This record gives sequence, structure tokens and C-alpha cells, in this order.
Amino acid sequence: MHLMPLPSSVQSGQGFLAVDAHFHAGMSGTANPRLQAALDRFLMRLDRQCGNIRRMQLTAAAGDPLLLNLQVAGTGAAVQSLDEDESYKLAVTPTQATITAANELGAMHGLETLFQLVNISDGACRVPVVTVDDAPRFRWRGLELDVIRHFEPVEMVERTLDGMAIAKLNVFHWHLSDDQGFRAESKKFPKLTSDAAGGLFYTQDQLREVVAYARARGIRVVPEFDIPGHSSATVLAYPEYGSGEDLKELPLVYESPRAELDPSNEKTYKFVDTLVGEMGEIFPDAYFHIGGDETEGKAWLANPRIKAFMDKKGFKTTADLQSYFNQRLLPILTKHGKKMVGWDEILNPSLPKDIMVQSWRGVDSLSQGAQQGYTGILSAPYYLDAQKTSEQMLLDDPVPANTRLNADQQKLILGGEICMWAEQINSDTADSRIWPRSMAVAERFWSPQSDRDVEDMYRRLRIASLELEGVGLTHLSGPEKLRRNLAGSTHPEALEVFASVLEPVSFGDREDTQHTDWYTALDRLVDAVVADPPARQEIEREVNAYLEHGPGSAAAEMRLRQRFEAFQHAAPALQAWALRSARLADAGQRARQLGALAESGLEALALIDMHTPPLAGWADGQKAVIADAQKPSALVRFVFLPSLEKLVAAAGQGSAATQ
Ligand code: ACM
Repeated sequence: MHLMPLPSSVQSGQGFLAVDAHFHAGMSGTANPRLQAALDRFLMRLDRQCGNIRRMQLTAAAGDPLLLNLQVAGTGAAVQSLDEDESYKLAVTPTQATITAANELGAMHGLETLFQLVNISDGACRVPVVTVDDAPRFRWRGLELDVIRHFEPVEMVERTLDGMAIAKLNVFHWHLSDDQGFRAESKKFPKLTSDAAGGLFYTQDQLREVVAYARARGIRVVPEFDIPGHSSATVLAYPEYGSGEDLKELPLVYESPRAELDPSNEKTYKFVDTLVGEMGEIFPDAYFHIGGDETEGKAWLANPRIKAFMDKKGFKTTADLQSYFNQRLLPILTKHGKKMVGWDEILNPSLPKDIMVQSWRGVDSLSQGAQQGYTGILSAPYYLDAQKTSEQMLLDDPVPANTRLNADQQKLILGGEICMWAEQINSDTADSRIWPRSMAVAERFWSPQSDRDVEDMYRRLRIASLELEGVGLTHLSGPEKLRRNLAGSTHPEALEVFASVLEPVSFGDREDTQHTDWYTALDRLVDAVVADPPARQEIEREVNAYLEHGPGSAAAEMRLRQRFEAFQHAAPALQAWALRSARLADAGQRARQLGALAESGLEALALIDMHTPPLAGWADGQKAVIADAQKPSALVRFVFLPSLEKLVAAAGQGSAATQ
């Protein structure tokens, strides 16, 4: 079984339910259009997997027994809420699969689980007999997507939602306004998109389409309009709400935020009121994200009128002024039936407890908020552009076992959100940054706290990754396409070998070397490799198996030798490409290092095999090779250096040779 996210309880039985031409599906409880559409989608996917399913479904006779029975007690809320019951039970016997749920949200989760249980054996599709009793650990399981720094077309957003449904994520946080653009059409303030979107925005019909698409998949959409900072686009379009900035064009260089709305101006609140009213109808969710991050207040302090306002009110810092702004915002949101969500910076005792804080600066601010009685969600460890491993992100828990929060405070942590910022991605590469790692975070949000088996997570993640590609995501095919394009070859084998052991450096490390902006081409080696590629964990496992001398030792050695030989063959070809191609020019040094690392690996294997201690100086020589490969180059880093270090150390000691 390869269920992901892992359910709270799975009990396996004996036997199988056949999924064949007799697989009639239907409902014995509540039927409603959302549930029917979910069942239709499920059957279409099942048909692609197994064949014959959908046609038979359509021709099922009235009296045919149901092989899949959805027993759903009631209909979900007209506007999906945080408090809805998402639990389900799935019981598979040799004659029937039954999904029991309170509403269609649970039923949809049950269908995703059932889909993952289908396997093919002897050419026939079947589901093992099993009982799954499952419910999410956290109610807020989100993914934030920045569509400002690079725009994402509706198709990309929709396939992201398809992936989220598989991952049982239930909140799509759509970052729709920032310094570099305003991406949601406003009829009340048309200049927001005519003057401050560079032609790239969603029409109101498209926004509604996405909300409906998400709802159909059990996903809430929380829009974010980032104020009072990160507001250059708004201030460019409507300088009258700004703080005196003189903007001539959209800032397409990603720098610290510039323009800020003017909190001392009553017209600013009228503007926000009208905008929240308009957007609040398009986005019916109870929560409305006001951003609030990184408001430096430079423009406020530079404006004598605003400075005088601060003095009059007795505000000592720009944070005081921002807190005043938020206090003025709150009744506006309430009037439109919205609850306030904002980034860390909105946390201030002057605000009532029913706001929610999204913690991006660290776990501490989340705990501090909870200790003061505020609800919160955690994002700091789940920034995808930090390029962390799935392992690291799985293990980072919104409420870790050793939390110092008491039981009531823990209940205030509603969950978390993955964040995908777009300074360094575009629509060709976004999928490969989001998936499959988001699946590991989704598991953290859904599955029990005790679920910390990294090895098993990776086993399931590899399979989930294919399932995600199967619904149209391009996290595997996108980088493959880019690598073909980079190499100018339909079979760029050397580049495939190279990419299998490289990953992008973190956002900050890339930023230090390459300050991307709107015009930067994101089509280099760094864009064609992915964080935490499978080879990192595979090589680690192989080195461990080899050095432990267990039954898998010989196979692991063979695999390692094949890898190192493949690196050795790839290195000269890559070096030649680097000389030939401007887009690969910076990769020459890494290519040379790949060859040197391969040599270290092969020598280490030979020494251990021959039970021979190395010549004096050998280990130091290899350490130097590894240290050289650790130096920054080409915005990518090797993922197997710790494993190679371990192998070289074993060879250096000669100790692993004692068998
Ligand atoms: C943020 O990353 N500025 C929320």
C-alpha cells in the first residue's frame, strides 16, 4: 500500500475487490451535483488506469449491485467552512467498496484514498480488502501561490488544485496583489489591472471559475490583497491612496517593498471597503487575507502629513501606525462578513482574538500568538523556495510533540500552509518546485503526529509523484523538457545523469548571486533541476546498505558503481556542452567536479572491496575533492556529498573492509 497522506487508521484484510467492467458506482445516501461530479472524475481516472470503467458505469442497469457505494449523510455547506467534517470511512470487501461520510468533502477524500488503493496484478485491476477510518489532524491545510512576480495562467492554477485534491489540501491561498502587479480584475477600480498588471491578470469570470473549480474539489479559496505595504501596483494605479510615492511604472525588479497605502487618509479606508466588498463576493470564503508583511513605513516617515498624524495619535513607531490601520480594517472586513488573516506582522494586542496569524518568520511567533489567544497557521518551514527536502518538511510540525503550548493553546493552531513565491519560478518551472514535495507537507497537515517514518514516506512519495503527473501536473515532464532544450538533444543522457544529483540552491543563495527580475530568463541548469531529487535518498540508502554488509550489500555496491561510472561518462560530455552552449556555460565547473567525485567514489569502493588501506594522503585528497564540490557554483549543489563523505571515510579507515 502506498497511501499518501497516511490515514489515521488502516486495517488490512484478506482478498480483493475486482475493479472490472462490473464496477458500478453510485450513491445510497445524499446525492448532490458536487458529489456526482467528484464520482465522475474518479471514474474517469479509474478508467484511464484500468480501462472499461466509465463505459460500463454509463450502461449500468437499474438493478445492478453497486460495487462502489457512497453513503453520504448530508450536503456540505454552501460556502465551505473551516468547521466542516472532512472525515470518512472506507470499507472494502471482496464484493463492495463503501465510503461513508458526513458530506461530500469526506466522500471526496475517501475517493482519493480508494484511487490510491487500486493496483494492477496479473493485468487486472483490484483493491485489497481493507478498512480505512480517517480524518484530518488539522483543519487548515493550505498552499499559497504568488502569481505576481511571475504570472500563472488559469490552467496552471487549476492543475495545482487537482494536485491539492490528491494531497487532501483544502485551502488555496491566492496571492493576488503585490508591488509588481495587481492580478484580479476590479470593476470598481479598473486602473488596478489596466495600469498595474502589465496585461497579465484574471478577469472576474476567471476568478469565479477558479473558485468553482476549487469548490468542486473540496478546496476553499482565500484571496490575499497585500496591504498596506507591498502596494506599489495599487499606488501606481491610484496614487491618491498612497503615501506620496511618485511611481512612474510597475517595479519589475524584486526588491524590498516600496509603496504603502496611507493610513492617515480616510479615502484609503473607503477604497479598501469598496474593494473588499467587490472581491468578497467573488471569493465567498469567510477568511480574507490582508497580507500585512514587510511594511517598512519608509514612505510614511518621509511624508510630513503622515508623520504629523503619527505624532498627533502618539504613535512612536510605524508598527503602531500599521496596527492602527489594521484596527480600522477590521470593522470593514466584519461588515463584509470576513475574518482577517494576515502575516506575522499583524499580531498585535490591539486586535481582537478572532483574527488569524500566518507565521512566516518562524515557529516562535506562532506560539506567541497562541499564548495570547490568537488562532494561527504555520508557514515558516514550508517555503518551497528554501529548497528543503521532503524529509525536513515532513518532520517540521505545526504542533510538535514537545510543544510548550497547553491543550487549549494547541487548539488555536489550525494547521499550516505551504508557500510558493514566484521571484525565481515561472509557469514552466512552478510545478517542479511545488510537487512532489508539497505532498510531504500535506501529509504533515493531514496525518497523525506520530507519522515520522521518513523512509516509508519517500517510498510512498515516489508513487504519489506519478499519480500527480497523471492528473496533468508537469513536475517531472517540465524539467525533462527544459533539459532537452538546454542540451539541444532529444536524449540528453549526460544532462539527465547530472541533473539526477543536483538541486537548486536556496532562494537566498540564488538571490545573492542572481537577483532575478521580471526579465530574467528562468531556463538555465538551476531551473532544470529539482529540490531533493530521488537520488539523494537512494544513494544514502545504498551507501548505508553497502557499509552494513547485510544481505543487500552486494546489490547496493553494484548500484553505486553503476552510478559513479555513469557520472564518469557524463562529465566530459557535459564539459563539452558547457563550452558550446551559453545557457550551460556556467556548468563546466560542476561537470568537472562530477567526474572527480565519481573517481573518489569508485576508488573508495575498490579500497573497501580489496580490504586495502589507502596510501597515505588518499583520504585527505578525497576530502579536498568533496570540499571543492561544496563551493558555490552555477546556482546548483550536489545532493550526495554527505553519502560520499561517509563512503570515503569508511575506505580511509579501512574498517569497513572487515567482513
Ligand atoms: C513573506 O514572505 N513576506 C510573507
